[in-house]
Amino acid sequence: MATAQKEAFIIEGLAGEKKLSGTVRIHGAKNAALKAIAASVLFAGPVRLENVPKTADIETLSKILRKLGAKVEWKKGGTGKDAVDLLEIDTTTMNSIEIDAELAGSMRASVVLTGPMLARFGKVTFPAPGGCVIGTRPIDLFLSGYEKMGAMAVLDEAACVHRIEAYKNAKGTGTGKGLLAGTEIFFNKVSVGGTETLMMAAVLAEGTTVLKNCAMEPEIVNVAEWLIACGAKITGVGTPVITIEGTGGELLKPTHFYTTIPDRIETGSFLILGALLARDLTIENCRPDHVESVVSLLTEAGVPIKIGASTITISGNTAANSSFKTIADLRTHEYPGFPTDLQPVIVAYLTQVTGESKIFETIYEGRFKYVEDLKKLGASITIMNPREIEVKGPTPLRHLPGEGDLTAYDIRAGFAVVMAALSGSGTFKVINIHLIDRGYEKLEAQLSSLGAQIKRVVV
Ligand code: EPZ
Repeated sequence: MATAQKEAFIIEGLAGEKKLSGTVRIHGAKNAALKAIAASVLFAGPVRLENVPKTADIETLSKILRKLGAKVEWKKGGTGKDAVDLLEIDTTTMNSIEIDAELAGSMRASVVLTGPMLARFGKVTFPAPGGCVIGTRPIDLFLSGYEKMGAMAVLDEAACVHRIEAYKNAKGTGTGKGLLAGTEIFFNKVSVGGTETLMMAAVLAEGTTVLKNCAMEPEIVNVAEWLIACGAKITGVGTPVITIEGTGGELLKPTHFYTTIPDRIETGSFLILGALLARDLTIENCRPDHVESVVSLLTEAGVPIKIGASTITISGNTAANSSFKTIADLRTHEYPGFPTDLQPVIVAYLTQVTGESKIFETIYEGRFKYVEDLKKLGASITIMNPREIEVKGPTPLRHLPGEGDLTAYDIRAGFAVVMAALSGSGTFKVINIHLIDRGYEKLEAQLSSLGAQIKRVVV
């Protein structure tokens, strides 16, 4: 794949002033739409997906499906001012079960495809994420789930891929005819991808599957509701126990469009940014009920937030950030708890409010690479261990000469360093921004519309 042209953001800091104001419209949730694209493999005939964000990950997964023989096209739906972009996917022409290693290697979420493909075609090969060495850990819940459904998963060391077949496995628990067998699975760890992937695999299995200790993220509910509308027999989604009555191999019929829910992580990102930098901000086309953990923390801290049916408004936000109470003890947690994806963003916010804060990252080890960049700007943060940091605020952020550029280490850390730069004094350069583009659609356009001085340059 041609290497993406290196681009960077050049940002003029607002020196702690709340100069931004205006409205941002939230896009469809990347982490829902990606799963709906994977679920298209369960259908006999073309499906139409609405409100899909045009981010890099969506394009990558579309490329993976095209390489497998599917037709994936953007189309115009509706008329005139109601014209909308629809993503149409027709998997009837799929002619391969080998998921492209290079493309899949750039986006972990591609593992979600293995469930529907294994269920439909009886076999799938998938590159071991991050090479063979750590290949077992990040998808162990998927592989053990498939084994329990009667599949055989073999790691081909030479090719560095997992070869998974839904035929009779060593224990003989398979259906022996290329179908997955319904069974009971208890997830030893709550996993968003594990829950939705095995739920989708179970839709075409023979018999009933009961998944226990499931993730309850709204993105899972959003995709499941679409599958149910098209005839899948799924109950309990959004609770820890999901039951799926398999169709025994019969594909679903695309009787309904899929509509992506608003992105709660994009919503939370702008809410936290608004608290720090905006006098007045309206976030529209969002689901306030999906970001209650963020709203409640910021409201308690003293941020003037109003909730509407599909809007969140910050108004008359003139108090200094140092007047906001800190969050003494914050733990990331599976939904509906505080989302790990907003951990870097809330930490950047906490450097600007008064007090000491302990942040415990329960989901991922060492999701703190961005801390070094915040410290380069003057933040007072101590990394206690790979899962815990302490923040002391407020500290003014400024660009120290010779301290070099800021780096986007992952999608959400990228947003955090952009927000930190906007809070600081001076001119900042953020590199590696293709990672930000994976999860935020035209971020610089949204920020510029609020009055920020940010531009994208080729480096
Ligand atoms: C989803 O990733 C999201 N990505 C992530 O968002 C999000 O951080 C994560 O859920 C947690 O909310 C997508 O939906 C595309 P998990 P997922 O399986 O499904 C471990 C973003 O920025 N685990 O819930 O991959 C895993 O290592 C991204 O949009 C295993 O050990 O997350 C992690 O520690 C970042 N074995 C924990 O479980 C497995 O087989 C939770 O991961 C699977 C997961």
